Amino acid sequence: MRTIVGITGASGAALAVEFLKRCPGEKYLIVSRWGKSVLFQETGLTVEALAPHVSKIFSNEDLNSSFASGSTQFDQFVIVPCSVTTLARISHGLGENLISRVGEVALKEKRTLLLGLRESPLSAIALENASKLANLGAIIMPLSPAFYMKPASPEQAVSRFVDHMLATLKLAPISGWRENELPHAFS
Ligand SMILES: Cc1cc2nc3c(=O)[nH]c(=O)nc-3n(C[C@H](O)[C@H](O)[C@H](O)COP(=O)(O)O)c2cc1C
Repeated sequence: MRTIVGITGASGAALAVEFLKRCPGEKYLIVSRWGKSVLFQETGLTVEALAPHVSKIFSNEDLNSSFASGSTQFDQFVIVPCSVTTLARISHGLGENLISRVGEVALKEKRTLLLGLRESPLSAIALENASKLANLGAIIMPLSPAFYMKPASPEQAVSRFVDHMLATLKLAPISGWRENELPHAFS
């Protein structure tokens, strides 16, 4: 399983860190200029600190990266957190940086594209862009905590959301809040 992770300049960098730690398989990372800034502001981490979790980190300016071409295989592209700016670029086919180009490749090659969208409130423009990508098969996953899981701390809310992301990508079993009512309940 080959996963590319994009971090953009939206709030919610802790989710990206947790996802990178827990996502199984081969991983590659691309971080936008503002993604680096928000990552540091929110977690105190630099991009280099994420290197142990991935095979390679690509510059967002590196359109020579093999992943800028559809001929290089990957299974899924996860942008978390995803800004409404990156959402707009991808929904308009603007492959001007590596994150939006890989998004474009995922769409044209019909590969899994998950956008952990973070903005509030959402403008009609952002909603239209998200709707357009959802209709093209992208998974739009707003970064909203599952309050029904009663997280005891922000860290637990982050962990539970990453559980949900991994389950959505079929990389982990679903841990739904009523799962224990079913006969095949996980222990
Ligand atoms: C501290 C900080 C927090 C931000 N939070 C958000 C956010 O939650 N959602 C969003 O869409 N943009 C947010 N922005 C604005 C984006 O960083 C900005 O639009 C940027 O151009 C996005 O570019 P990128 O998608 O290439 O990273 C934030 C910016 C800063 C500095």
